Amino acid sequence: MADRIDVAVLVGSLRPKGYSSLLANALIGLAPDHLAPHVVGFGDLPLYIEDLEKDVPPPWAAFRDTMRAAQAVLFVTPEYNRSIPGGLKNAVDVGSRPYGQSIFSGKPAAVVSQSPGAMGGFGAHHDLRRSLVFLDMPALQQPEMYLARSNELFDEKGAVKTDDTRKFLSGFMTSFGAWIDRFVTR
Ligand code: FNR
Repeated sequence: MADRIDVAVLVGSLRPKGYSSLLANALIGLAPDHLAPHVVGFGDLPLYIEDLEKDVPPPWAAFRDTMRAAQAVLFVTPEYNRSIPGGLKNAVDVGSRPYGQSIFSGKPAAVVSQSPGAMGGFGAHHDLRRSLVFLDMPALQQPEMYLARSNELFDEKGAVKTDDTRKFLSGFMTSFGAWIDRFVTR
């Protein structure tokens, strides 16, 4: 479908089979038809140093090009020490610069946090939302998605275990699709 909306999915954990990745894959599979979500990797980005803008590292340029084409962004992240993992913060920083050329500006976003613990990555979730304010990204407010006990949600093949969870994730993606439609014209 030519008019599907390009949604970049940034996964905060770099573990290919971590719970964030499993969750991102599940959300991608449950997205409404008019969305085309895809994971954009950032594990190869050199740490952000402003001086490198004089001779931009190729991974920064490739990441910015891919993200520039995205019309919306879904963040799926674990919590590291009550905040977001450093790799994800670095991707946010790389994408946000040079000043005035942020690839995030104005794009609708949603945040999903997860943790095997009881609080569902609440701290990371809201630290990220703080950056989204500065990035000028309208972020889906409701439903909020803090997934606790994420280690219990997937079977040994990495698939969502229960219909209830599937319905919950699918409802979230439907809301995100409707949110994106407020900002992106097709
Ligand atoms: C964690 N973990 C963690 N969990 C949590 O709920 N709050 C926290 O502050 C932290 N802090 C933290 C720091 C570091 C450095 C690591 C490696 C882990 C546990 C974390 O939620 C767990 O490892 C998840 O499984 C990570 O997500 P992925 O990699 O499975 O997607």
